[in-house]
Amino acid sequence: MISEDSDDAKTTNTEKEVSTSEDQNKKKGMVLPFEPHSITFDEVTYSVDIPQEMKNQGATEDRLVLLNGVCGAFRPGVLTALMGISGAGKTTLMDVLAGRKTGGYIEGSIKISGYPKKQETFARISGYCEQNNIHSPYVTVYESLVYSAWLRLPSDVDEKTRKVGSFWI
Ligand SMILES: Nc1ncnc2c1ncn2[C@@H]1O[C@H](COP(=O)(O)OP(=O)(O)OP(=O)(O)O)[C@@H](O)[C@H]1O
Ligand SMILES: [Mg+2]
Repeated sequence: MISEDSDDAKTTNTEKEVSTSEDQNKKKGMVLPFEPHSITFDEVTYSVDIPQEMKNQGATEDRLVLLNGVCGAFRPGVLTALMGISGAGKTTLMDVLAGRKTGGYIEGSIKISGYPKKQETFARISGYCEQNNIHSPYVTVYESLVYSAWLRLPSDVDEKTRKVGSFWI
């Protein structure tokens, strides 16, 4: 007979605790730990129907090409700056990569860690702070990203795990 205080009984209780916490995690559908991913894009072209004003000014083309065969990569853990003059197409490119464009014609390949991007999955694992979002001048870029990431995580994820997760944004 095993008394409640014996080592065997304690082991059984610990196992129970572990399996209970695993069950809870399964129930909440948590997708941890975080996996770093890269985004690569090749020959990305984005065009829109030519605006009426341009037609009025004599434009004969059907489409206005805003991005023309753009290639690049964003690697995990590497803060990457996309630079260009106003109107160069930085926001347009980021919107296309993030799947935020509702109109227009997108061509080319966008891959997540080598696999074709699926928008439903991408929307769940990524965060996108837009140019016109309200940003505080008193926090760094890193702090803004961490703040955005933390708002998306369940409240029972501890601080250490949150920081690891945020690092891979
Ligand atoms: N739907 C659209 N129809 C026509 N032209 C568009 C459309 N969307 C964007 N453009 C044009 O595409 C160009 C690129 O715009 P975009 O906003 O991507 O530039 P940006 O590099 O982000 O500039 P900024 O540094 O000012 O934010 C601009 O000339 C803009 O007017
Ligand atoms: Mg912009």
